[in-house]
Amino acid sequence: MKPLFTTVIAAMTIVSCTTQEESIAQLSDKIFSLAEKQFILLADNLPDDRAPKYLDQKDSLITSDINWWCSGFFPGSLWLTYEKTGNEEILELAKKNTLKLSNLLDHKTDHDIGFQINNSYGHAYRITRDEKWKPMILAAAERLATRYNPVTKTLKSWDFVPEGRDWTWPVIIDNMMNLELMTNAAKLYHRNDLKEIAIAHANTTLQNHFRKDYSTYHLVDYDSISGNARLHQTFQGFADESAWARGQAWTIYGYTMMARETGIETYLQQAEHIAEYLLERLPEDGIPFWDFDSDKIPEDLRDASAGAIMASAFAELSALTKDKNLALKSREMAEKQVRTLASPAYLAEEGTNGGFLLKHSVGNIPGGTEIDVPLTYADYYFLEAISRLTSLLSH
Ligand code: GLY
Repeated sequence: MKPLFTTVIAAMTIVSCTTQEESIAQLSDKIFSLAEKQFILLADNLPDDRAPKYLDQKDSLITSDINWWCSGFFPGSLWLTYEKTGNEEILELAKKNTLKLSNLLDHKTDHDIGFQINNSYGHAYRITRDEKWKPMILAAAERLATRYNPVTKTLKSWDFVPEGRDWTWPVIIDNMMNLELMTNAAKLYHRNDLKEIAIAHANTTLQNHFRKDYSTYHLVDYDSISGNARLHQTFQGFADESAWARGQAWTIYGYTMMARETGIETYLQQAEHIAEYLLERLPEDGIPFWDFDSDKIPEDLRDASAGAIMASAFAELSALTKDKNLALKSREMAEKQVRTLASPAYLAEEGTNGGFLLKHSVGNIPGGTEIDVPLTYADYYFLEAISRLTSLLSH
């Protein structure tokens, strides 16, 4: 029999351990309450026709025009915050920042309209069910569909070709994320043709973008006459053969999302393989270095955005996979990543960080831009990850 003192200490230890760590529900309340205040601050500094891009090292807000691939993330974060809090001021900002994107159909040189419109108009319609938000979802998906080539069976990512690159039909892994706009429009308007394009693109990417270990290249260039993959590169990463962290984040998110949207088993299996690969390689605190194979690790920069995207994908995968062990490991990883991002190392204090939530993301190191800064997409996927984790706990 244990002495009474030992039993009491053991009981006190259990109580203090359980009271020390915030529950995910408490964490969610805290983060969304911070988001309400931060986003009002961020919106105050934003010109009417511009989107937030990042905060530079001198704490100046750098904005972009509406064509920039990230212009849908701030409205998306506002919609997620309104959904959670019901704050009417946030609702007005969400509407205003969504409507800024109303001329986006005129921009025709890249694939990013999926990110831009599904995260803004897509949420606006999903949350309010106001019909006025709906036609843009179809129009944008139709716009994206014009980039489809039945020979390569892919959507073309970029029209631009930087100096020194010999691309003819470049497809980047990020393009997987734009497919959700097409499946969403297909559901809302009974347009199976749009869903078929999304499936064709996901199938081709699955065949050509991955290495044997389920890491992904950033870019595959196709021969648009033969349809064959002709170049494999990692344009935004450390090296062509390296695993650029955000690219890996787009894959696990992209195939998990496509498994949810289509029910196709191959996509779920691909997401499971990617998850196993990431679980093996992620650092102890869950936040990846900007490239898993950078030669400066462990001194190199982390990428909070990749951690946030992965957390959201791991949370969704944990609910979709039938592999109980992987479901548990995925859910634990999502929670670990969210808790790390919610720690002072990454989370801004109220009134700081220019109104962004997270610090320490990496946009484009080879391009020399947005390095170790707050970024809109880190905040967006962080909020989505918390929402997904919270809803997992309530089921
Ligand atoms: N879609 C561009 C990026 O992930 O940086």
